[in-house]
Amino acid sequence: MFEHLTPAPPDSILGITEAFQRDPRKEKINLSVGVYQDAAGRTPVLETVKKAERWLLENEGSKTYLGIDGLPEYRDQVRRLVFRGCIPDPRVAVVQTPGGTAGVRVASDVISLASPEATVWYSNPTWANHPAIFEASGLRTETYPYLNAARTGLDFAAMLETLRTKTRPRDVVLLHACCHNPTGIDPAPQQWSEIAQVLQDRQLLPLVDFAYQGFGQGIEEDTHGLKTILAHCPEALVATSFSKNFGLYSERVGSVAIVGVDGPQTTVGLSQLKRLVRVNYSNPPRHGAAIVAAVLADPDLTASWEQEVRAMRGRIAQMRQQFVEQMRQRRPDVDFSFLLHQQGMFSYSGLNPMQVDRLKNEHAIYIVGSGRINVAGMTPRNIDRLCEAVASVLAESAA
Ligand code: LMR
Repeated sequence: MFEHLTPAPPDSILGITEAFQRDPRKEKINLSVGVYQDAAGRTPVLETVKKAERWLLENEGSKTYLGIDGLPEYRDQVRRLVFRGCIPDPRVAVVQTPGGTAGVRVASDVISLASPEATVWYSNPTWANHPAIFEASGLRTETYPYLNAARTGLDFAAMLETLRTKTRPRDVVLLHACCHNPTGIDPAPQQWSEIAQVLQDRQLLPLVDFAYQGFGQGIEEDTHGLKTILAHCPEALVATSFSKNFGLYSERVGSVAIVGVDGPQTTVGLSQLKRLVRVNYSNPPRHGAAIVAAVLADPDLTASWEQEVRAMRGRIAQMRQQFVEQMRQRRPDVDFSFLLHQQGMFSYSGLNPMQVDRLKNEHAIYIVGSGRINVAGMTPRNIDRLCEAVASVLAESAA
């Protein structure tokens, strides 16, 4: 039977890390996958996570199955952290998922159940895995414009115009709550209000992907877009992740939340989410969710976690600054200052696929084919070599 299978292409993000690992060159740099590195180039286990794990080691009494929707304490904490009381409890139900990716996938499956005719609108560009997830759920997809012609900022007028004129009622609009992946470009507060108004007027369902809470302006501040949307739209789906802000990448800790018009509707929605989970991975893993729940239930651990998130956010902002400064010295004619208006882990560098290839082939520097750079992977150790290499591929292209 398998003779009929054709080879699948390598994943456009994780496939790059596979190639990076095969590269024997010593000075190689991986700025592809969205993983935070500290100044020494390590992806550390957060101190707060270590403390919670020590506590769990002493106090956890069982490894029996979780319920289909996950650990109750975790679901409560996610509701508090993400929604911050903006939706009354009976209208929102949270389901723990293995990472944010599964959260988006379960959301996508429930959309396909509730509204198989719906088109999912996502930004052009978006996270490379989004389109494939919606297609795997059998949904139609379309894109709305996001970047301006210079690829340095938001083309808000074009985005709004498309949402206002091309969508149909019951279509779905995917929005990144903060730290847009891959561009790092987020709408301003007033723009969130205008987006929310269009969603409401056109009766569109928001699907909010919230994978970087705390990496933009702050844990509370980064909920602004989501809260604005929820103030306008009676229904929503929200996927979240603790991969980045807790550094729990391989523990796979995320969620999908359904917001309904009232308690009974949310209960029905929850029953369908649980059915989709059960036929897919049955129930989620415990460990990572238990860590998050233990931290968020303890004010001291929460304060130390917030401090660690602040430090990661600050380091990323510093690296943006250094990259822009170093590029200004090397190439005063090319303006990279737009990076300073972007936030989160990623930035669109403006490098084209040929330049990206050169970075890899000639300098052992790996970034995503679209030109996306993981700023959180820049360190004081690799920044010189990175800027030198970027300057050199820019010079070669100009020659
Ligand atoms: C990324 O965009 O690099 C991360 O979200 C990791 C992933 O799964 O693609």
